[in-house]
Amino acid sequence: MKILGIESSCDETAASVVEDGRRVLSNIIATSLEEHKLYGGVVPEIASRRHAESISGVVKEALGQASCTLDDIDAIAVTYAPGLIGALLVGVNFAKSLALSANIPLVPVHHIRGHIASNYISGDVEPPFLCLIVSGGHSHIVAVKDYTEFEIIGNTRDDAAGEALDKAGRTMGLEYPGGVSIDRLSPSGNENAFKFPKPRVSGSEYDFSFSGLKTSVLNTINNSRQKGEEINIADLAASFQKGVCDCLITNLEKAAVDFNYKKIVIAGAVTANSKLRSEAQKMCRRHGWSLYLPELKYCGDNGAMIASQGYYEFIQGVRASESLNAYATMPIDKCYKTD
Ligand code: KG4
Ligand code: ZN
Repeated sequence: MKILGIESSCDETAASVVEDGRRVLSNIIATSLEEHKLYGGVVPEIASRRHAESISGVVKEALGQASCTLDDIDAIAVTYAPGLIGALLVGVNFAKSLALSANIPLVPVHHIRGHIASNYISGDVEPPFLCLIVSGGHSHIVAVKDYTEFEIIGNTRDDAAGEALDKAGRTMGLEYPGGVSIDRLSPSGNENAFKFPKPRVSGSEYDFSFSGLKTSVLNTINNSRQKGEEINIADLAASFQKGVCDCLITNLEKAAVDFNYKKIVIAGAVTANSKLRSEAQKMCRRHGWSLYLPELKYCGDNGAMIASQGYYEFIQGVRASESLNAYATMPIDKCYKTD
């Protein structure tokens, strides 16, 4: 079964053809990231306009690279939530029109479910497993009970991990996206140079909070400026990255022990972070757990992860109605049929 996946939730316009949920036949991505760098973050209107310009070409190229025509496609999967609303609408409307004109079933896909599925196209993992999701907009610990069954165990109380890295990166004067810049700079710094307080979150012991860490970076920079001291940004970047990774790994480890999961999966664009990957490997080695990480090329937003998740939603009977809309927010455990 061949699924065409379409993704446009942020600044990547992406399309891909995936066979039987696992075999990637094509994966095309156009990004407007360079333009957003000028503004230090994604500018929603620019992202939407670039999607409108690129989407036809990207989809055509994805079909071509997979040596397919629309006649070979069994279903179209499209990201409908969560994300930037104008950006999502471009993909949703394009997919709806394509599905209607070619009489192909349309499957709505939750973006974060797609990030989890980036592991299905990178390896042979199957649910059930415990998943840490870390992206620009999300930091979750989720029990993935089946391909379309999720239970949220932990959530962020404020910023997502990627968002905190991006904001801290900006405070340090680094290029957007800060997560990528901090990852690049950290190996040349001392991660023990600055000690940041471990955030305390009342209520759920699996929830995250990154705003305190972010404020500590600002305070550290301001204090040294006031004293007229030079600050080593590589040390600061490495220490902040360590602080973020410590929070993520501590909660993930606790949840895995408490809920008795021995299969650990990490998903989302921050999974590209080298410190997070190595700390997760150490944790799993310590406990004898299996760890699954997406290939680097599937960590960021792409159409293949949407096609993969779309396949599993499709065989469960999930179909978009003609009135499919886009949503800026949507919990991962909410089933489309109950919208
Ligand atoms: O998945 P994504 O494109 O957007 C959402 O769905 O939210 O995530 C982008 C985020 C940005 O915050 C970026 O800084 C972060 O992923 N990121 C990284 C790395 N690569 C991307 N953070 C840390 N280290 C990386 N290597
Ligand atoms: Zn994403």
